[in-house]
This record gives sequence, structure tokens and C-alpha cells, in this order.
Amino acid sequence: MTQITLALTKGRILKETLPLLAAAGIVPAEDIFTSRKLVFATNHEGLRLLILRGSDVPTYVQFGAADLGVTGKDGLLEHQGDGYYEPLDLGIARCKLMTAVPVGAKPQKGRLRVATKYINVARQFYAEQGRQADLIKLYGAMELAPILDLAHEIVDIVDTGNTLKANGLEAQEEIADISSRLIVNKAAMKTKYSEIQNIVDALRDAVAAEAVAKEAVEKT
Ligand code: PRP
Repeated sequence: MTQITLALTKGRILKETLPLLAAAGIVPAEDIFTSRKLVFATNHEGLRLLILRGSDVPTYVQFGAADLGVTGKDGLLEHQGDGYYEPLDLGIARCKLMTAVPVGAKPQKGRLRVATKYINVARQFYAEQGRQADLIKLYGAMELAPILDLAHEIVDIVDTGNTLKANGLEAQEEIADISSRLIVNKAAMKTKYSEIQNIVDALRDAVAAEAVAKEAVEKT
């Protein structure tokens, strides 16, 4: 039997991915949230799930260690890899990639220092704007950097805006709309075409059904 490996992103994306997978008829064989395992069997004999950090999902799929992956568009923009298709916007974990500065900060006249984990995205963004920026790579808690004068501004994900607000920052410019995407290894798309296409189709139907349900709720 052909083995299909689907890499998922842990954390808040996973919480929104599992209902979508369930709607597509894919259910893990055990509770992912209470287990320390990284690989999970599913109700389909030929399909297993990997639980990874979002930034590693494109790498697993690019090199074919996973056939498919679910991860945020932010990670895909930053990864800048090839070797995979992006056939489906899952419409979950929506947020924005933005610049943010301390509330009331005056525009920086000299060289700008920017803290972010999205170094590639930020480099491209500031270059397109014709602004010189020194980029400082951080792995989390970006909001601290302007407060401690490590950077003038940050590039980070904004969802509710609560984290910015709680740290005296405000969003400034929007860089990209973010949501989670399904990616597929290019070679696997050829060699395991029917198995992969079945999963893509089932997820596409689940996304469409979710959109219809959401619209109905919004109308009431
Ligand atoms: C993200 C991001 C912000 C926060 C924004 O971090 O880095 O800190 O969410 O969300 P909000 O606008 O709703 O406050 P996350 O909690 O995903 O953890 P991370 O730092 O590991 O990415």
C-alpha cells in the first residue's frame, strides 16, 4: 500500500487543522494533544501525520520526507523554497504580517533596526520600500525588542493585536495577509497522484463547506 505522510504545524494552527481534517474524513488514531509522539497513525491505513514546528514543514515537504504539509503562509514566504505546490488556501489561522513600532514613535531618520524572525520577508519588504534596514534575527518575543532598544521596529504576525497592545506597540504597515496553506511535494504529486489528489479534493470540499457554514452564521 502507498504510504502518504502529511506534516502538520503544531500550536494554534493544529487546533484549527484537526476539525478540517475530520471534515475531510481524516482522524488521528489517538489524541495528538495529550501525546508526546511526533508521528500519528490515522483512520486510513496508508496515511500518517507528522507534528512539526511550522518553520520545518516546508523543509520536510520540499525534500519529500513528507508528501503534504499544512503550514502558515508566513512560513512559506520566509522559507522561499521550491519543490512543492501550494494548491489550497485552508482559510484557517488568519492573521496579518505587519511592521509594528512603539505607540507614538516618530519616524526613524537614520538607519532602521528591525527585529524579526522573518528575515527574508523583511529584507524584501524594506528593499521594495527603498529603506535601508539592519535586520536582527529573533526566535520569539519580538515585541520586547523595541522596548529594550534592541530595535526600532519589528516585523511579526498580528492576530487580535493584544500582544502588541500589552507591550506598548502599534501595528504600522501591512506586509501580507496570512492563512494556512496545503502544500504538496512536486515529485509525490506525480508518483502518488491519485492518493494525494483524493486528500486535496477532500480538503477542498471541507474548506468550501466551512466557508458556507460561516456565511450562514454571519447572516443570522
Ligand atoms: C504570535 C506572534 C505574536 C502573537 C500575535 O505568537 O508572534 O506574538 O502571536 O497574536 P495577537 O495579535 O492575537 O496578540 P505565537 O503566540 O503564535 O507564538 P510564537 O512567538 O511562538 O510565534
